[in-house]
Amino acid sequence: MSDETIHLGMKVIKVWPDDCKSEVCGDPTIHKVSFADTQEYHPRLIAKILELEENHRLRKRYFRGACGTKIHNLEQWVSTEAELITARAKALFRKALDCEQSVVDLSWANVYRTGDYCLPHSHLRSTASVVYCLDTGDEDPEDPHSGRFCFVDPRLRNCCQHQEGCMTTPFFPGMVAGTMLIFPSQLVHSVNPYAGKRPRITLSWSINKNMLPGSPFPANAGNGP
Ligand SMILES: [Fe+2]
Repeated sequence: MSDETIHLGMKVIKVWPDDCKSEVCGDPTIHKVSFADTQEYHPRLIAKILELEENHRLRKRYFRGACGTKIHNLEQWVSTEAELITARAKALFRKALDCEQSVVDLSWANVYRTGDYCLPHSHLRSTASVVYCLDTGDEDPEDPHSGRFCFVDPRLRNCCQHQEGCMTTPFFPGMVAGTMLIFPSQLVHSVNPYAGKRPRITLSWSINKNMLPGSPFPANAGNGP
C-alpha cells in the first residue's frame, strides 16, 4: 500500500510520502496531515479547477452561502493531479480508520470568490470526510477568521469549553495549502465569509469502507467546505 505511486509527467510521486505522518487534531476523531511536495501538483491542479469553474457541466453554483462554486467528481476531470490527491484522501481514510478499503461516494472542489461562505452542515452518506486545502486565498487584515474552516458541533469537547453540550467556541483546525483533514462526516462544520480576491480553493471527499447503493445526488443536499 505504501509503495503506491502515480506518474505526473516524467516524475514518479509516492501516494503516501515516506516521511508523512497524520496527527490527531484537537479531538481524537479528527486527523490532520500536511504534504510537503505540493509544488509537484498544485499549480496544474489549481489551473484545472479554474478552467472547470469557467464553464463546465460538472460546475454548480447554488447561492452565496452554499460553499462557493462546486465542481464535482474529480475522477471525471481527466487529471492525474486529481487522481493523486484522491489517492491520498483514500489512503488517509485507511490509515485513520485502520482498515483495508476506502471508496469515494462523492468528491468535489469548492472555489470561493469574494463574499462566498458555507453555512453549517454535515456530509451525507459517508463515514468520514476528507478536506484538502489547495489555496487559502487572501488574508483579511481586518478579520483573521475570514474564509476559515471551523467545526461548530456540540459533540466536540473543544467546541464546548464552558458547558458540556453548549457550542460556544468554534474549533479552527488551522488549514494551509497542502493540509488534509479527515473527520466524521456527521460533524457540523462551516466556512466563514471570504473577503479576499484570489480564489480560495479546497477539495472534499465523502468516503466509506464499501460502495453504497444509489446516487450521492441530489448534490444540493451535500455542501462542502
Ligand atoms: Fe462540508
